[in-house]
Amino acid sequence: MRSSLVNLLVCTFLVKVSNSENTFENVTVVLARNDVPEATVATFDSLKEVIPDVKDEVTITGNVPILYENSIFDIPSLYSLELSNVGLEEIKPGAFGNVPLLNKLVLNSNNLTEIQSDTFTDLNVSNVDLSSNSIFLLQPGAFTNFKADNVTLENNNLTELSFGVFENVTLGILNLDSNSLYTIAPKALSALGLTRLDLLDNNLEEIDPEVFDLQELESLDLDYNSIKFLRPGDLRNLPQLHCLRLSGNKLEEIPEGVFNNTKLTYLNLAANQIVKIASKTFDGMLALRVLKIDSNNLTQWDDWLTSPSASILVRFNQITEIPDEAFKNYSRLFNINLQGNRIRKISTKAFRKLEQIRYFNLADNEIDNWDPETLGNVSIVGLDLRGNRLKCIKGDLETIFKNVQKIRLENNPWKKECAKKVAKLQKKNWSKEFRQYFPRCRKLDDCMPIMFFFLITFL
Ligand SMILES: *[C@@H]1O[C@H](CO)[C@@H](O)[C@H](O)[C@H]1NC(C)=O
Ligand SMILES: *[C@@H]1O[C@H](CO)[C@@H](O)[C@H](O)[C@H]1NC(C)=O
Ligand SMILES: *[C@@H]1O[C@H](CO)[C@@H](O)[C@H](O)[C@H]1NC(C)=O
Ligand SMILES: *[C@@H]1O[C@H](CO)[C@@H](O)[C@H](O)[C@H]1NC(C)=O
Ligand SMILES: *[C@@H]1O[C@H](CO)[C@@H](O)[C@H](O)[C@H]1NC(C)=O
Ligand SMILES: *[C@@H]1O[C@H](CO)[C@@H](O)[C@H](O)[C@H]1NC(C)=O
Ligand SMILES: *[C@@H]1O[C@H](CO)[C@@H](O)[C@H](O)[C@H]1NC(C)=O
Ligand SMILES: *[C@@H]1O[C@H](CO)[C@@H](O)[C@H](O)[C@H]1NC(C)=O
Ligand SMILES: *[C@@H]1O[C@H](CO)[C@@H](O)[C@H](O)[C@H]1NC(C)=O
Ligand SMILES: *[C@@H]1O[C@H](CO)[C@@H](O)[C@H](O)[C@H]1NC(C)=O
Ligand SMILES: *[C@@H]1O[C@H](CO)[C@@H](O)[C@H](O)[C@H]1NC(C)=O
Repeated sequence: MRSSLVNLLVCTFLVKVSNSENTFENVTVVLARNDVPEATVATFDSLKEVIPDVKDEVTITGNVPILYENSIFDIPSLYSLELSNVGLEEIKPGAFGNVPLLNKLVLNSNNLTEIQSDTFTDLNVSNVDLSSNSIFLLQPGAFTNFKADNVTLENNNLTELSFGVFENVTLGILNLDSNSLYTIAPKALSALGLTRLDLLDNNLEEIDPEVFDLQELESLDLDYNSIKFLRPGDLRNLPQLHCLRLSGNKLEEIPEGVFNNTKLTYLNLAANQIVKIASKTFDGMLALRVLKIDSNNLTQWDDWLTSPSASILVRFNQITEIPDEAFKNYSRLFNINLQGNRIRKISTKAFRKLEQIRYFNLADNEIDNWDPETLGNVSIVGLDLRGNRLKCIKGDLETIFKNVQKIRLENNPWKKECAKKVAKLQKKNWSKEFRQYFPRCRKLDDCMPIMFFFLITFL
């Protein structure tokens, strides 16, 4: 809102004209407080020179190639500083000092290549945004005696992160998405107290427990890296981890024991090349609410059930059948989604020992025959059989699906004589569109309300 007012109130005056090298030359300084921004074009060395006592939000536009020592110094009222897209190439050590109220520092979309030692020192801020620069090096002590809720280094050129970059630092969220990180030194991030670490789109090849020794971490995003294997113990130093994202990696097998003793509520293994998951891999993960194994190379359904309240998404694999007693461990299940596999055969004993499933999705498979005995007495809130190869279902559909509250049967090659009874069943029982909930876990809270959300969507 404040920036929209900026254009209204522009007063221009030259504070100082100098031929020597100034940190800020002919830049526009927008000062704002209480929604009354003022813009000034000025040339100066230290921001202090153009800041009246009470101005607390400052945006600088123009060209600022270098921030020299003390350029942002001794401004007790400064609350927020934005130097975005000003062509910044270098920050000299000691550029920031004695800005006790500085809360937000935005330096994104510049041309920084390194963060030198002693650049972010003695700061206690909520947010530092260094995204979209060309930073390839963080020197030791780049962040010293530093405290922040959220530091963003997204979209830079980091290939490694060495020990000592963060010295006496407390940091809640660190975003390193879209760099080229290949190596992170053991314990480089361990003392920070991180609760969330985003490493999407980097080049990491393993989860080294000496690196991922993050006792407070709740959410870890490793989507789109190059992780080839997981070993038992890889997660042993992540005792608080709730959300783990590993989609788009190079996993082919998941051995037993990897997730033992974890508290995961959300696990995403989609878009790997997983051909095999050891049968006890997910045993004991009673807190799990979402298990996503979509778009892998699985050919067999196994007893991957983890808890009666989990959503298990195994869409777009190559599973061909549902075997006997496929869901034997629990009498009630929440959400099983097998859309887009190659399932042709469902054992008539598949659902034995099961009493209830809320949502069961078999859409876009190759089912060409539905044995009236298949469901037995299992009660299902929503059953999706769209896009299969069913030509007819023998018998009275009302009876066969008596325990199914909502069913979808479209996009099957129904024979003429069958189409009518199918249409009748659907009409009677399908009121609202099925809406599939695709759970995410970007924010910590996203894991929690899934069950609630799902119920709302469904009923
Ligand atoms: C800044 O403004 C002065 C006076 O208009 C001008 O002489 C100088 O060339 C300008 N400097 C830059 C870097 O634009
Ligand atoms: C700064 O980066 C921008 C975009 O990343 C680029 O267009 C520009 O040429 C760079 N400037 C310098 C001085 O390197
Ligand atoms: C940092 O700032 C917050 C509020 O802005 C304050 O509560 C906290 O005590 C400060 N911490 C340090 C170490 O200065
Ligand atoms: C962290 O900071 C970035 C950039 O300033 C912002 O986009 C993001 O929303 C912040 N994240 C949280 C959780 O506050
Ligand atoms: C660690 O940093 C905090 C500010 O974040 C500071 O108050 C404290 O003195 C520093 N400790 C050491 C040992 O430097
Ligand atoms: C940073 O990485 C991008 C994308 O990988 C690349 O295009 C760019 O040239 C790199 N910049 C520097 C300064 O290395
Ligand atoms: C993991 O747990 C399973 C079942 O709880 C147990 O059989 C297995 O030995 C454990 N594996 C490891 C590596 O701890
Ligand atoms: C997984 O399937 C893809 C596409 O069908 C194939 O290219 C890839 O080689 C398979 N990977 C494994 C490990 O079988
Ligand atoms: C499922 O049951 C089998 C044996 O019936 C057992 O080995 C396995 O540990 C059970 N899995 C879970 C998740 O309880
Ligand atoms: C279904 O329930 C009926 C009545 O309770 C019972 O007679 C029948 O054996 C059950 N069928 C199966 C397959 O469990
Ligand atoms: C159709 O829905 C009604 C109420 O919604 C239910 O009583 C009935 O049993 C359902 N019929 C079938 C065949 O599932």
